[in-house]
Amino acid sequence: MGRTPVELVDSYGRTHRDLRISVTDRCNFRCTYCMPEEGLAWVARQEVLTFEEIERVARVCVERFGFDSIRLTGGEPTVRAHLPVLVAKLAALDVDLAMTTNGSSLRAQARALRAAGLGRLNISLDSLRPERFAALTRRDELHSVLDGIDAALEAGFDPVKLNVVCMEGVNDDEVVDFATFGRQRGVEVRFIEFMPLDAGHTWSKVQVVPGERIVAAIHAVHPLRPLARGSEPAEVFEYLDGGGRVGAIASVTAPFCARCDRVRLTAEGRLRNCLFSMEETDVRAVLRGGGSDDHLARSISSCVAAKGPGHQIGSVSFVQPPRTMSQIGG
Ligand code: 5AD
Ligand code: SF4
Repeated sequence: MGRTPVELVDSYGRTHRDLRISVTDRCNFRCTYCMPEEGLAWVARQEVLTFEEIERVARVCVERFGFDSIRLTGGEPTVRAHLPVLVAKLAALDVDLAMTTNGSSLRAQARALRAAGLGRLNISLDSLRPERFAALTRRDELHSVLDGIDAALEAGFDPVKLNVVCMEGVNDDEVVDFATFGRQRGVEVRFIEFMPLDAGHTWSKVQVVPGERIVAAIHAVHPLRPLARGSEPAEVFEYLDGGGRVGAIASVTAPFCARCDRVRLTAEGRLRNCLFSMEETDVRAVLRGGGSDDHLARSISSCVAAKGPGHQIGSVSFVQPPRTMSQIGG
């Protein structure tokens, strides 16, 4: 106690304050752009960090480096048993605590997660059409996600945000439907440009729908005005008629890398300084090898020190990392 946090600044001057923790690489969906239908090997249970180990990494990030934001991701975080127990441990660190989920388990879990101290929720949903949803996720579960959104609102999560990965020729014709849905339900929809993290390595530039085009399509139907840009990657807009907010994350056409403040911890305890990094730092080896908090802190700061300027998606030198999104954690 009493130690003053030292900012975790990388060689490009970016201060890191946001830890993204993947609690499992498993998922109950098989989104075509994220996972193969079958055959993706799961990380063995004993390889996955325990709640105590996760809490320790998070505590060192908060106490030593002043992190103020933690997000739980997966795979699908709600398939990890007893998740509210972890949420309660992390909530005690007094940070902005959020989770990204596919929403299908929220009817059963939203209330307990809220009570344990989870602050904010992002729900991923890429189609409002049942057949298309089933084709995209390989699960006929649109109804449970829609019900999960209601459950999240009923449990008092505010705001509830909806992440929509927009893909040319796949769901780009639903942009306005999603905007209208968000206005009706009181959820903030955020359209995300499709990034090359897909399991099949079939990503191509032509599948990316530029954020600008998405915003223009919405503006033509529901007029918008931009809000001042915060520290978030999303560009956020407000409906002129008071219908709430909508955002676009132009991760490919206007990358956020220069302002990135994120570090990612994979389910098996590897620290990544970027979604697209090729190197990882094995913090589990420190945790399980009896390393001290000082040792852990050095491991975290060396990972951040090695962070590159950002991804070069679209350039000839870009190489897609071997891990899929489900194995990294959004
Ligand atoms: N490009 C953009 N977003 C993606 N997600 C998963 N894969 C990709 C991709 N290749 C999204 C999920 C979820 C979040 C964790 O990341 O839909 O909203
Ligand atoms: Fe599961 Fe999310 Fe990947 Fe879909 S995108 S398969 S919901 S981890």
